[in-house]
Amino acid sequence: MEIPYSRWHAAIPPRRSRRQYDSTDLEQDQLAHLQEVCREFRPFEGARADLVIESPDRIFRGAVGPYGKIKGARALIAFTGDMDDPHIQEKVGYLGEAIILEATAMKLATCWVGGFFRPKVAASVVHTAKNERVLAVTPVGRAVDGLTREERIMTGFGRNHRRKPLEAMVSGLERADWPQWIESALQAARIAPSAINRQPWLFHVEPDSITVSVDNPRFTFGISKRLDCGIAMLHIEVAALDCGVQGRWELLGAPRVARYTVEHTV
Ligand SMILES: Cc1cc2nc3c(=O)[nH]c(=O)nc-3n(C[C@H](O)[C@H](O)[C@H](O)COP(=O)(O)O)c2cc1C
Repeated sequence: MEIPYSRWHAAIPPRRSRRQYDSTDLEQDQLAHLQEVCREFRPFEGARADLVIESPDRIFRGAVGPYGKIKGARALIAFTGDMDDPHIQEKVGYLGEAIILEATAMKLATCWVGGFFRPKVAASVVHTAKNERVLAVTPVGRAVDGLTREERIMTGFGRNHRRKPLEAMVSGLERADWPQWIESALQAARIAPSAINRQPWLFHVEPDSITVSVDNPRFTFGISKRLDCGIAMLHIEVAALDCGVQGRWELLGAPRVARYTVEHTV
């Protein structure tokens, strides 16, 4: 499946994590479309997304977490990876964010959940192989109108949606010299979601490339920072494509994650 870059780029700013859903079932055509995107969008071998059409409550049960309970959704998407692949975390982040942006474009709400779910229950629902693990899940559905009081408290009254300035995460070429696609790609990467909003990415800019690295090995809370970086990678690529720049990813060893290099402009 080709990346619908304008559609996903437009979905980046309005996306935000929602944790309380209105319990109505999704329509059949919405479910069929989501299922098709999960099946068709397989940019990397070893990383997959599965739509599960049942209440995810038993997957979240007993796993409240710092943001409170995720309630009321009628479906869930599980993001699974082959743990024998040393790049699986960034691959799952990239793939999962693509599905999340498609759901956002469909006006559906989501929330990456990497820590506070029951991985064994999720694994049994999506039938993982021996070498596979469900690394994260998202509820998918209609969020209740407006942030509920509980959601506002749990997200620190918007604090967990704030982002660091770009200057804090970028090195290399002076910003005044950035081509338009790099400005757009890094603006998109900056607002990517990350576990506990830690924004663990660093970006090194050269005239025709962006290298993504992990900031430091601390504060992982059991969720790989490389997964967050995979999310930022997807944002970089859809913004670049939307600027007419087609590039290629090269996956790199720690602490670097990947480099996106321009192949051609259209
Ligand atoms: C990999 C990953 C794991 C996450 N895990 C959880 C989680 O376990 N529980 C939760 O409520 N939110 C979780 N989140 C959501 C983040 O807290 C949220 O993305 C971040 O605070 C930024 O807010 P925003 O998504 O509204 O922009 C996770 C996000 C990511 C990317």
